[in-house]
Amino acid sequence: MTNHRIALIPGDGIGTEVLPAAQQVLDVLGRRHGFGLTYTSYDDWSCERYLREGAMMPADGLDQLRDKDAILLGAVGHPEVPDHVSLWGLLIPIRRGFRQYVNLRPIRVFEGIESPVRTARAGAVDFVVVRENVEGEYSQVGGRFNSGFPDELAVQEAVFTRAGVSRVLDYAFGLAARRGGRLTSATKSNGIVHTMPFWDELVAERASGFPQVAWDQEHIDALAAKFVLEPGRFDVVVASNLFGDILSDLAAAIAGSIGIAPAANLNPERAYPSMFEPVHGSAPDIAGQGVANPLGAIWSAAMMLDHLGHPAAAKDVTDAVAGVLAKTDVRTRDLGGTATTAEFTDKLLELL
Ligand code: NAD
Ligand code: IPM
Ligand code: MN
Repeated sequence: MTNHRIALIPGDGIGTEVLPAAQQVLDVLGRRHGFGLTYTSYDDWSCERYLREGAMMPADGLDQLRDKDAILLGAVGHPEVPDHVSLWGLLIPIRRGFRQYVNLRPIRVFEGIESPVRTARAGAVDFVVVRENVEGEYSQVGGRFNSGFPDELAVQEAVFTRAGVSRVLDYAFGLAARRGGRLTSATKSNGIVHTMPFWDELVAERASGFPQVAWDQEHIDALAAKFVLEPGRFDVVVASNLFGDILSDLAAAIAGSIGIAPAANLNPERAYPSMFEPVHGSAPDIAGQGVANPLGAIWSAAMMLDHLGHPAAAKDVTDAVAGVLAKTDVRTRDLGGTATTAEFTDKLLELL
């Protein structure tokens, strides 16, 4: 029997509430489809640990994860720890250390969900944001100067490399070729004069290797508007790290809630483990109440199964997600219902 070694990092806040739901779903599928999952839990890699010991994870944290087949993560972030400290202490080092340069974020409007966007009809909205995940606007280059003086300033450099942009574009074009054959690139080359024109040039260059893909580009501001006005027209949307971050929350909201949206942080070469996590954060405003929507984590687990070579098991999960929304009125609060995380998960397990 195939066995997969899975690292579980629940993290903080609702991360610790949605990850067990995903694990329950995974266990059912392992039994049904005949594969094993061996979990190693890293329960204390979190902001609590940081507050106690001054580090989010041990110094050899990445080495502990290196031999795993995949990582499933909840969320990171705590009101008492500055976000740039917690995220650069755990999530971002994993993405970068393991060269997870593709952040794949699908969006679907499911039957049974009322999107806040009138034009977003179920079945008609089904696209993927491919977010560059290890460089771009997220960089440690820069600094803060003249602290406390009237001329105090902060400088934050964005780093776009030919190799780094090209590889994520190739992934996105390849995905578009396998999907609906359309790609939209998010740019801002009218206002950002160095990095974005470079991005655009590389898009045109890489596109020539994928003649079957019809592509265009949109400035990020106009693109945000088109997400809302015509969400059904997109297939694959490729974006830099920051633009992709913003677009993926917007896309999730169009699908009804950011509690639904999944993400796969992929190292396509499989030289390192990939990481799967919901798009949402630790949601301190609802943490501890047991009311978080587990679908983002559950759908992320489905993406993990697909990555591990179990597409039929992955489809069982997305079918059950679609089923619980289409066939029942059980929903968590973010979707207008009253169910708890456990009740919603139980209903989904029933349909599985
Ligand atoms: P957030 O995603 O945590 O929450 C935004 C809003 O959406 C909140 O009102 C929250 O209650 C709601 N929400 C999110 N997930 C939900 C779910 N599953 N079910 C129901 N409602 C849900 O974003 P934020 O408020 O910007 O960030 C909170 C903390 O999380 C910060 O520390 C932030 O840095 C961190 N964060 C971490 C990740 C990650 O680990 N990948 C992602 C985003 C934010
Ligand atoms: C996400 C999150 C992270 C990001 C933050 C918490 C650093 O928003 O995974 O989308 O911007 O990548
Ligand atoms: Mn985000």
